[in-house]
Amino acid sequence: MNHMTPPTRSQRFTAADVETWEREGIVLLRDVFTSEECAAVRADFDLVFGRAAGGGEALVKKKDGEIGRFNPAQFTGIEIVPVDCSPALNLIGVHPALMAFARAALKTEAVHIYQCQAWAKFTGDADYDQPFHCDFANHTLTVPSEDSTKNSVTIFCYFTDVTDAHGATRYVTRTDSQKVAGPEATLNPDPEFQAKLQAELLKHERSSASPAGTAIAYTTDVYHRGANLTAPGGHRYALMACYKKAGDESVGFTAWQFHHTRPWRRIFDHATPEQLACFGVQPPGDPFWTETTLARAQARYPGWDLTPYREAMTR
Ligand SMILES: [Fe+2]
Repeated sequence: MNHMTPPTRSQRFTAADVETWEREGIVLLRDVFTSEECAAVRADFDLVFGRAAGGGEALVKKKDGEIGRFNPAQFTGIEIVPVDCSPALNLIGVHPALMAFARAALKTEAVHIYQCQAWAKFTGDADYDQPFHCDFANHTLTVPSEDSTKNSVTIFCYFTDVTDAHGATRYVTRTDSQKVAGPEATLNPDPEFQAKLQAELLKHERSSASPAGTAIAYTTDVYHRGANLTAPGGHRYALMACYKKAGDESVGFTAWQFHHTRPWRRIFDHATPEQLACFGVQPPGDPFWTETTLARAQARYPGWDLTPYREAMTR
């Protein structure tokens, strides 16, 4: 590839990145989103959350040396898609580069997005310090497989520059955490056990501090924790996109159909058939599509361009 050729959307990661994800359970991907894409997504965040700056002082509830805790205020800045704003934010979770990474990571052609949420954090809104934990507990009813392709991939995307003072997620690579404990230790409720576990994991902690446009792909067995925003007036705009193999009923989080009152035209009016398929919409050529279903779908979403579905049907 010559230097003047901009990378195509699916070339925003390398085979080595996928290998790192397989081995360590986590990989930081720089420049997945262009500065224009980040700016458009930030404008949507400003609109949706109604402000672009946090308070002057960090809210700190835990004492020095204490382990972070989960608290409900940490999660108040979450909006699942679709949101009442432009396609920039609504479709960034099914950006071609993210779909491509999910396919490569899970080694399958058909992927499904099962969580897609914008997450804004502002200095002073909460003490965002969390304990180290693995995410599998609310993504599956069992446990993570040691074969990554049998699990799912979470892709956490930054649209603002994220320093440690802006709550960069802290994490431990799988190579390091294996010296300490398996992911099941995250469920142990014994406070003494947890105190020891947290102290050991802390020795191996790394920061995901990265510029806007970075995507962090990780598995549900990787130890990580949210960290507090301490930068005066600081904010962090991020999006969490979780992918699984289509048809894998062992993994789930958001049932899109349950959220039918959200503004779905914001997605249907702008998404490609490939992007819609990630949400479970039958692709062009699927026998589901008939004259009747096309007419019904058009009535439900008047702005949806059904041409590719109609054309595939008549072929
Ligand atoms: Fe988490």
